[in-house]
Amino acid sequence: MRQLIAGNWKMNGLRADAIALATALAAELHGDAGCDVLVCPPSTVLAAVTEALAGSAVMTGGQDCHTDASGACTGDVSAPMLRDAGAGWVILGHSERRLGYGESNALVREKVRAAVAAGLTPIVCVGETEQQRLSGNAETVVAAQIDGSVPAGFAGVVAYEPVWAIGTGRTASEDDVVAMHRCIRSQLVETLGEAGAGLRILYGGSVKPAGAAALLALPEVGGALVGGASLVAADFLAIIRAAS
Ligand code: 13P
Repeated sequence: MRQLIAGNWKMNGLRADAIALATALAAELHGDAGCDVLVCPPSTVLAAVTEALAGSAVMTGGQDCHTDASGACTGDVSAPMLRDAGAGWVILGHSERRLGYGESNALVREKVRAAVAAGLTPIVCVGETEQQRLSGNAETVVAAQIDGSVPAGFAGVVAYEPVWAIGTGRTASEDDVVAMHRCIRSQLVETLGEAGAGLRILYGGSVKPAGAAALLALPEVGGALVGGASLVAADFLAIIRAAS
């Protein structure tokens, strides 16, 4: 399966820095990059980054969207607005939103529906906390997140991001990655039927250039969702090369 390397810039990137980073990526990634490449900048610079990447192999996405297309929702961004700014994708249900803003599986599922209705491909994030892993519940938690967040007919991407590996420099062991991705695969098939067998499952959590090739070669790993390392052009490019 062709890999997807996605960069989640999170709440980083003033206009000049964001355009400089996008320009550096565009200079290296024209024609076929050997894998699919996506960056998800803050919505304030999404249009400018999309423009800077025009003609390159790099696609753009949002980091969240509202369930409604428009309305009295101060501070929110809708899926059609992301699409209008040039996005083709959107990250939904990131643990920083599930834990920081109390987003439930049901809310994430509604956001997925809104994203698809606007023509965006959703990347649904799942992952257990350290406490849940230590108490032996990692697989149960993640299976329930898939079952609750992924609507019928889902044709997007799932990202497994163990919460304890995000921004910590700790990555899951190869055995744990394989076990969790297999668990996600079987839950996708249970929830979606045969369609669940072909969806990409990304790994995220302290993915860096060192170790990226080994990680991306693991069974059921269809790419990576990269946070910190996606803010450094040389590091993100090295991860892309590891996938190609
Ligand atoms: P880091 O790569 O910085 O650990 O972030 C991972 C992440 O949360 C991507 O969505």
